[in-house]
Amino acid sequence: MVKGSPDFRDSGLEFPPEFVFGSATAAYQIEGAAREDGRGPSVWDTFSRVPGKVANGDTGDDACDHYHRLDADLDLMESLNLESYRFSISWSRVIPDGTGAVNKAGLDFYDRVVDGLLERGITPTLTLYHWDLPQALEDKGGWPARDTALAFAEYARRMGERYGDRVAMWTTLNEPWCASHLGYGAGVHAPGRQDPAAVLRAAHHLNLAHGLAVSALREVVRNDPDFSVTLNLHALRPSGPTGAEAVRKIDAVGNRIWTGPMLSGAYPEDLLADTAGITDWSFVLDGDLAAIHQPLDVLGVNYYSTKLVRLRDPESGQRVTSGNAIVDGDAWPGAGDVEFLPQPGPYTSMGWNIEPAGLVELVGSVAAAYPGLPLMITENGAAFDDVVADGRVHDAERVDYLRRHLTAVHRLLESGVDLRGYFVWSLLDNFEWAYGYDKRFGVVHVDYQTFARTKKDSALWYAELARTHRLPD
Ligand code: NOJ
Repeated sequence: MVKGSPDFRDSGLEFPPEFVFGSATAAYQIEGAAREDGRGPSVWDTFSRVPGKVANGDTGDDACDHYHRLDADLDLMESLNLESYRFSISWSRVIPDGTGAVNKAGLDFYDRVVDGLLERGITPTLTLYHWDLPQALEDKGGWPARDTALAFAEYARRMGERYGDRVAMWTTLNEPWCASHLGYGAGVHAPGRQDPAAVLRAAHHLNLAHGLAVSALREVVRNDPDFSVTLNLHALRPSGPTGAEAVRKIDAVGNRIWTGPMLSGAYPEDLLADTAGITDWSFVLDGDLAAIHQPLDVLGVNYYSTKLVRLRDPESGQRVTSGNAIVDGDAWPGAGDVEFLPQPGPYTSMGWNIEPAGLVELVGSVAAAYPGLPLMITENGAAFDDVVADGRVHDAERVDYLRRHLTAVHRLLESGVDLRGYFVWSLLDNFEWAYGYDKRFGVVHVDYQTFARTKKDSALWYAELARTHRLPD
């Protein structure tokens, strides 16, 4: 692409007309209006106020002010030719205490989201849970408590009753690994606990929440939608003689802890063995695995980078991380002897390595493991230190990142993988969790003083792709 020019050349790579190009966001990361119109507090409202937990003390109080700018943001999506928009509902905006009374103003807001999308010809892809657990439920035990899964099913049912005539794709959970392992293990996400046994209980109750929610939705929706879940499956690569064993361990506690029960109806035996010193898994009750194992129409996969692993030399003390502080310590119960090695660049501003081949490896292996299950890339994208100059953002690195990853997507399609769509993360720069607003993932720049939106070059590039279904060069 010529920098700053909307005249794109054609790479010759064409995507099928039915392949969906969308973009994704999440409620806490963009909405703001955290105390307005009856919204209850979530664990991220609480956690972001704990000193030292989020860079610069940032919170989602205002975020991108999307709550007040919905119509303009919907127009923005239309101007980018988006075919689908993946957003999440803030549970505590619609049911402030997590259970019990609903908040009409909150429900009305998501009516406006859904209707506004449909009016513009954009398909809503609705995620029920993107990490913002109502604080009232955390106070009663959070995800390690079984009742949270039951509350989630009831929340799902109510959302199905309300929006189940207009939403074509429902996603129960986004990246449950982050909620359980980073939230209750590493402690770097809300609620910030560090307890390996709680991680495994939380993971099971997230699995149960997913299964119960799909069942509840099936009973109430009226338009035969697709049901899905989005997982951040870890793309693992072995290093040296112990690499294969390290991959097995991280795959068990990071990937198969979800795909096992959700897609095959059982927890992997090796996961149970690896974690036997932490828990006896007695919180898995009769009938749970059948409840979790629901037929799915689509599996969403989020992909950003790869992880290179081996077993730690017991003599060598300090554990190496991949340059990403989030990949650390208690995020991996039962796999504490695995170390994450630095990888060759280039890197994004998160310190994550840019490796499109990892997308081909990961999605290819999922497709091979679960034949007949359609897949979607529900997130892919990159943070860079973007600057606005003369009303433009020349984010050539992001354009290059997207071009390379979409070339990988094209390769997967050509090899026969049933990949239905791609959602760029993210529509807008937003609250990047523990990193606050410093990390900009948007194809649209947000000025956090004025909330002005500025399309980056990557937005123009992506809009051309979505319009033509041909990869611009
Ligand atoms: C995954 C998460 O779903 C999203 O919330 C986050 O902002 C991106 N990855 C980037 O880290």
